[in-house]
Amino acid sequence: MQDALGAPQSVLLLGGTSEIGLATLRRVLRTGRTRRVLLAGRDQAALEVAAKDLGGGPEVRTLRFDAADDPADHEAFVTEATRDGDLDVVLLAFGLLGDQERSEEDPAAARRVIDVNFTGAVAVLVPLLRALRAQGHGTVVVFSSVAAERPRRANFTYGAAKAGLDAWCQGMADRLVGTGVRLMVVRPGFVHTKMTAGMRPAPFATHPDAVAEATWRGLVRGAQTVWAPPALRWVMAGLRHLPRPLWRRLPG
Ligand SMILES: NC(=O)c1ccc[n+]([C@@H]2O[C@H](COP(=O)([O-])OP(=O)(O)OC[C@H]3O[C@@H](n4cnc5c(N)ncnc54)[C@H](OP(=O)(O)O)[C@@H]3O)[C@@H](O)[C@H]2O)c1
Repeated sequence: MQDALGAPQSVLLLGGTSEIGLATLRRVLRTGRTRRVLLAGRDQAALEVAAKDLGGGPEVRTLRFDAADDPADHEAFVTEATRDGDLDVVLLAFGLLGDQERSEEDPAAARRVIDVNFTGAVAVLVPLLRALRAQGHGTVVVFSSVAAERPRRANFTYGAAKAGLDAWCQGMADRLVGTGVRLMVVRPGFVHTKMTAGMRPAPFATHPDAVAEATWRGLVRGAQTVWAPPALRWVMAGLRHLPRPLWRRLPG
């Protein structure tokens, strides 16, 4: 339960080694009133390192989670994640950029990008949101992407998966109005993390801490959609209507 000042007491990070996810978690922890943190991911050793880096303060538990698992595994995961009490904030920060050209040649590679970013995310959100509705409160933050707004030649398999996730979340956010549960979508642009290592930065490139700050402000003001950096809202409002021959000539 959030305390009287609105600070989350318990936070679950799905994608417990994500640089954006961990920066956002650290921003939440600055309230100093979070008591329980759950870090969920595939790499137990990396989760332990991330848990240590969070320092003292809240009790930190690590949980195994793979977005590509079967729906029954996701149900079991949510049962485990809610074992010790309510979840106030859930950060869904896992994602797979993949290799665009490979996803055009190899059906398994294409499917993996779609499975991790879209179907896997929805498959874990369904039991998670059921649990949050049963407890009567909680906020889910889903990291989508500007890539969801308009597909680009450079990463349209990833963009299509994020567009699917983003659309599902927008619909679900409307469905949740009045239930006490909230779903907020965050659309970062290019962020310097291991996901983008070695890539040429796009205009408006930013850092995990800036995304974390924008996300925290969105949480505090009850936003439904957050752009990071915020200027991307207006940039993309224009770019989404750019004629296709011009759009496909944009770099990257
Ligand atoms: N970086 C950007 O420019 C950018 C821009 C827009 C949106 N985003 C989105 O923001 C979120 C965080 O990205 P990031 O930049 O922080 O990336 P990151 O540091 O590379 O982290 C990606 C996370 O996804 C996890 N993951 C990958 N496949 C998984 C699977 N099958 N099951 C469970 N977890 C899996 C990784 O876990 P492992 O450690 O096990 O690999 C890691 O925790 C993602 O949803 C990403 O799509 C990023």
